[in-house]
Amino acid sequence: MFNLTNKKESILPILIEPSILSADLTRLGEQVREAEAAGAEAIQIDVMDGRFVPNITFGQGTVVALRAITPMFLDVHLMIVEPEKYLTEFAKAGANRLIVHQEACPHLHRTLQTIRGLHIETGVALNPGTPLCMLEGVWDLVDVVQIMTVNPGFGGQAFIHSQLDKIRALRQIITARSMNIRIAVDGGIDVTTAPLVVEAGATILVAGSSVYNKKASVEACFKALQTSAHRV
Ligand code: DX5
Repeated sequence: MFNLTNKKESILPILIEPSILSADLTRLGEQVREAEAAGAEAIQIDVMDGRFVPNITFGQGTVVALRAITPMFLDVHLMIVEPEKYLTEFAKAGANRLIVHQEACPHLHRTLQTIRGLHIETGVALNPGTPLCMLEGVWDLVDVVQIMTVNPGFGGQAFIHSQLDKIRALRQIITARSMNIRIAVDGGIDVTTAPLVVEAGATILVAGSSVYNKKASVEACFKALQTSAHRV
């Protein structure tokens, strides 16, 4: 399976990672296959519990179902309270990475140790109001830091430009400490904001409504995002 974090940041490719939150759920399997055919190497599954965020979406069963139909890297974004209760289940379901929110993890170090013990990748997401210093003490357990560029819960929201400074600051920390950590961004990523976040240091661009929408095919949307992200 993919090991997307084992290379030096400087030569890492920019990955467009479609989020299924905005996919047509009446044909989710087809939409995932369309992303794969367009060239996606990973998809993000937005798990929401109606408590950590004001929306309810997918569970372990969706991961099991998608694991069965695609070899793509399954990046599971746990927008839930008490994620530590569900780590093993999501790993068994087929997740290749589990992203937990720092804001939902009073014992973040132990939670990340648990994910590492499941032999899959770790991710920590930071909401727009959460500073980078909240990651002090766990850097060595983190494969991906996901900077939320919207307040989580829904697709199609406006990009929060103030997060560009946070991405730049994170890039500087990673470089200064020679850490093997990738920067993902999630929320409001489209052909306009993609070059901005790449310029700031992101290499994983999670995109939902700019990939899955009624305006164009998944392939056309995905390739437009790739082009815009590589314009930098
Ligand atoms: C949090 C979700 C969304 C989703 C992408 O609300 O995590 O950010 O993945 O949504 P878009 O790309 O439509 O903003």
